[in-house]
Amino acid sequence: MGQSPEPFEQLARELGIRGALQRVCPLGSGHIHETVLAEYGDAAHPERFVHQKLNTHVFKHPALLMQNFLLVTQQIRAALERRAAREPERRCLRLIRCTSGELSVTDRGGNVWRTTAFIGGAHSIDVVERPEQAFEAARAFGGFAADLAGLDPAALEEPLPHFHDLDQRLRALERAFRLDTHARAASVREEMQHLVDAHTELARSLATRGFSRVRRRVVHNDCKINNVLFDTASDTALCVIDLDTVMQGTLLCDFGDLVRTAASTAREDEPDLGSVRFDLDAFCALTRGYLAGIGAAIDAAERGLLAIAGPALTLENAMRFLTDHLEGDIYFRIQRHQHNLDRARAQLALFDAMWRALTAAERLVADARG
Ligand SMILES: Nc1ncnc2c1ncn2[C@@H]1O[C@H](COP(=O)(O)OP(=O)(O)O)[C@@H](O)[C@H]1O
Ligand SMILES: [Mg+2]
Repeated sequence: MGQSPEPFEQLARELGIRGALQRVCPLGSGHIHETVLAEYGDAAHPERFVHQKLNTHVFKHPALLMQNFLLVTQQIRAALERRAAREPERRCLRLIRCTSGELSVTDRGGNVWRTTAFIGGAHSIDVVERPEQAFEAARAFGGFAADLAGLDPAALEEPLPHFHDLDQRLRALERAFRLDTHARAASVREEMQHLVDAHTELARSLATRGFSRVRRRVVHNDCKINNVLFDTASDTALCVIDLDTVMQGTLLCDFGDLVRTAASTAREDEPDLGSVRFDLDAFCALTRGYLAGIGAAIDAAERGLLAIAGPALTLENAMRFLTDHLEGDIYFRIQRHQHNLDRARAQLALFDAMWRALTAAERLVADARG
């Protein structure tokens, strides 16, 4: 990624890494931070760390982010120890602090870096290839919610307030449409109307299912399949990562985002809308996995919302992508012309498919054991 070795030397110094830097390579396909794997030492005693340059445009208060990170990982680590889990160091991210006790390093350019121990023999996937992977990822996220069930949501700072607030997202979209700073509104009238109508219908259905009464708890808030590390040898889920959005919310957000990303037959930005379908088998695997992972830490009200969670989060994302398209692509990085519009359209198509399957999905949740 064209960086000078300079920040890494400083990182090593402040973190107390003694071995010399051997190599640095980019890691993963994340959209938010820049993540690298850095290897220090020699071949006989390699030391591998993950350095992440935090995106301080998205997360304006890195110190709060780091406090949350520490609290969450300590809680998970304690839960792993309580149940005597195998290889606990591979099942939870471990923050490497500076020798001074600081939780992050600020380089000379003002960039804030977080470092964790590298989890070896693991990989993340962007697309579900087999239902077992969907089951495993869901089990990991369910377990994550269960491990954090005892943590008071008020103990965590809110790094992104109103992150999953559908009504607020709609207002932001309407505002972007009205202001029309990039003269794109006229070309998306149809999508806009579609979204507003879908939101009305969804809001009504959420209300009938008691959404306003569902409890708030500590949730991950970014439950995408690529935020789970899989153990490469066994292909089982090992560790939930990307903890920056962990804060209070409802289970709906977590399970919904998982369904959105893992029960679609197409990528998030698929331009061929005909290939965007809701995969009910994958949904079934996700439901079983999630219930297996969360165990007794889910209540009846939360369970009653699992089937509608997917459409809710899919619509929310359609709104966010269309808002960003209207505002000139400032939040989501684009790789091609009208990329955010493609993303919005694909999410809308997925929402429609999920909405048609809602009754079937609700039946599946009701019948699932757990
Ligand atoms: N401690 C770690 N050990 C191994 N791989 C990691 C570790 N942390 C991150 N990764 C890899 O880096 C990728 C990006 O990290 P992530 O925290 O999800 O950042 P982003 O916010 O950019 O999505 C992950 O998908 C994973 O493959
Ligand atoms: Mg990620």
